[in-house]
Amino acid sequence: MNIRAATVEDLAGMQACNLQNLPENYTMKYYLYHALSWPQLSYVAEDQGRIVGYILAKMEEDVADGDESHGHVTSISVLRSYRRLGLAKRLMIQSQEAMATVYRASYVSLHVRKSNRAALALYKDTLGFTVREIEKKYYADGEDAYAMRLSLKHLAR
Ligand SMILES: CC(C)(COP(=O)(O)OP(=O)(O)OC[C@H]1O[C@@H](n2cnc3c(N)ncnc32)[C@H](O)[C@@H]1OP(=O)(O)O)[C@@H](O)C(=O)NCCC(=O)NCCS
Repeated sequence: MNIRAATVEDLAGMQACNLQNLPENYTMKYYLYHALSWPQLSYVAEDQGRIVGYILAKMEEDVADGDESHGHVTSISVLRSYRRLGLAKRLMIQSQEAMATVYRASYVSLHVRKSNRAALALYKDTLGFTVREIEKKYYADGEDAYAMRLSLKHLAR
């Protein structure tokens, strides 16, 4: 399995993968906005030309007063038959490294459903994210989100 930076040609495959895996879906315009604005931050996992996993990520644009520049994971998923192979971990690490080195991000943030056991284990146990707060009814169906963060300061060069 090959992991590489996503290009504009990959966006349709990423969107197809997202539609299979998650209820949070995005317009092609939003994928394009990520790819054109932060081309170093989104990655794909590819198997024989097919996109089997992706991370769609950006730099946060609305940085509050006193807050540090930081990256944000908009979406990540891996097709069911390719899970537990370490692909999501590799996609996250690639994006985190680029956030820190290309954009000098101090940390990376994301949201995750309180019930998403697999993703929570990936973020907390494997990558070391911590929960910053609970955002009530963050998702369209009313589920709460954990807002999580991971410092990237150790990656700064
Ligand atoms: C969450 C998701 C992206 C993980 O992808 P993955 O490629 O299978 O994850 P990895 O193989 O890199 O897993 C790394 C670690 O995360 C944890 N993990 C991953 N899936 C898990 C599961 N189903 N149950 C428990 N822990 C899990 C484990 O600690 C795992 O390490 P291990 O395999 O050595 O035990 C994948 O399950 C997925 O696409 N889910 C649907 C979409 C989704 O929920 N996206 C996240 C939205 S916030």
